Amino acid sequence: MMYTELSPKQLKSMLWWAWDDTRNYDAIVCDGSVRSGKTMSMTIGFVLWSMKNFHAENFAFCGKTIDSLKRNVITPMQKWLEGIVKIKVNLSRNYLDIKMCGHMNRYYFFGGKDESSYQLIQGITLAGVLLDEVALMPRSFVEQALARCSVTGSKLWFNCNPDSSEHWFYKEWIQKCSEKNTLHLHFTMDDNFSLSDEVKNRYNRLYSGVFYDRYIKGLWVLAEGLVYGTVFDKNRHVIKSYDNSNAADYYISIDYGTLNPCSMGLWAIERDKAVRIKEYYYDGRTRGLQKTDEEYYQALEQLADGYPIRHVIIDPSAASFITTIKRHGKFSVRKANNSVIDGIRNTMTLLENDRILICECCQDILREFSLYRWDDKKSHEKDTVIKENDHAMDDMRYFVNSVMGRILKEFCRNGGKE
Ligand SMILES: Nc1ncnc2c1ncn2[C@@H]1O[C@H](COP(=O)(O)OP(=O)(O)OP(=O)(O)O)[C@@H](O)[C@H]1O
Ligand SMILES: [Mg+2]
Repeated sequence: MMYTELSPKQLKSMLWWAWDDTRNYDAIVCDGSVRSGKTMSMTIGFVLWSMKNFHAENFAFCGKTIDSLKRNVITPMQKWLEGIVKIKVNLSRNYLDIKMCGHMNRYYFFGGKDESSYQLIQGITLAGVLLDEVALMPRSFVEQALARCSVTGSKLWFNCNPDSSEHWFYKEWIQKCSEKNTLHLHFTMDDNFSLSDEVKNRYNRLYSGVFYDRYIKGLWVLAEGLVYGTVFDKNRHVIKSYDNSNAADYYISIDYGTLNPCSMGLWAIERDKAVRIKEYYYDGRTRGLQKTDEEYYQALEQLADGYPIRHVIIDPSAASFITTIKRHGKFSVRKANNSVIDGIRNTMTLLENDRILICECCQDILREFSLYRWDDKKSHEKDTVIKENDHAMDDMRYFVNSVMGRILKEFCRNGGKE
């Protein structure tokens, strides 16, 4: 592994436990921008600290899930520490042993969102824990992990990208860091000397709005105002008409509703972008008449008329309508991945990079773009959207989550948050 020179902040996050002015802290929190070098310097520091001070003890590496932990920490760590310590990994049993200077310790892997991890960590005694991406873990898991650190001299190592300013981790650990005798270091991409200007610029273009503030500037900010307010621009994203000679595939995405509106979008995919070319939108409440599943199915057929539809992507909770579509045997149906915030973030990334365009005839999605809002009531710990004017917004999100993954990956290489 070729190291670029470590920045002063990286060095501090690695060696604080050995330096006179910081060694008495019980914990360290590194937060800030994506790719700023937090995970790498802390992981090396955590291993050096634990190996120097302990023998025959247990430690924990925690990630959002075991898979993301292995990908972001465990696998790269073996390269980072090559030639410095001896590591023996038992991937199937989720631990590794490290030997250095006559000491040997064991490091278990836990995923905050993995059900089994929660049970396993309850019984264990630890001398230290590193929580990578701690803001993505359930609070109960983090507190359980901390409660296990009962060995004298144990220390806690946290890192994360910022989230909402109402997030429990921000309130409990960052705002109260001195009360908790915790060293807080704030990272930006300039703290990672291995990133070229070109790479930094590429990351800058990946995010917009609240996600730019969090992932690029590294700030804890509340999501407020219009969801797509800072990114959606009629001059850039709306086209008069669509010439389908370059279209490779067609999809229809559906947000189903009977009392609430039902929205369907017809999308054409070109190599690296998607165009919403037509839509269907029906609001049973304002029209004073609800439609049956069979009537909606007729609307779907009409929208698809003349286009070879690869898949119909639909709201996973629309059980009755899914059955109706399947019964007709004409379309291949896929239930959408319904994770709201990831979907919004990915949609923003695509809009920011002009990978989603809307035909002028799609008036309902254009209307919703100018109305769809974050719910900024302070009582919400997590980002929340107001559940109004969100029907075409939801069908677009289902489409992005289910179909646009490849395109997102292509230009987010190593960059986007998964
Ligand atoms: N001093 C260095 N020399 C060489 N490569 C480095 C150095 N510091 C960081 N890197 C590399 O830069 C990339 C980002 O570092 P790292 O994963 O530690 O950042 P991060 O702050 O944890 O990012 P994220 O918030 O996205 O998880 C990694 O590929 C890492 O190997
Ligand atoms: Mg990281």
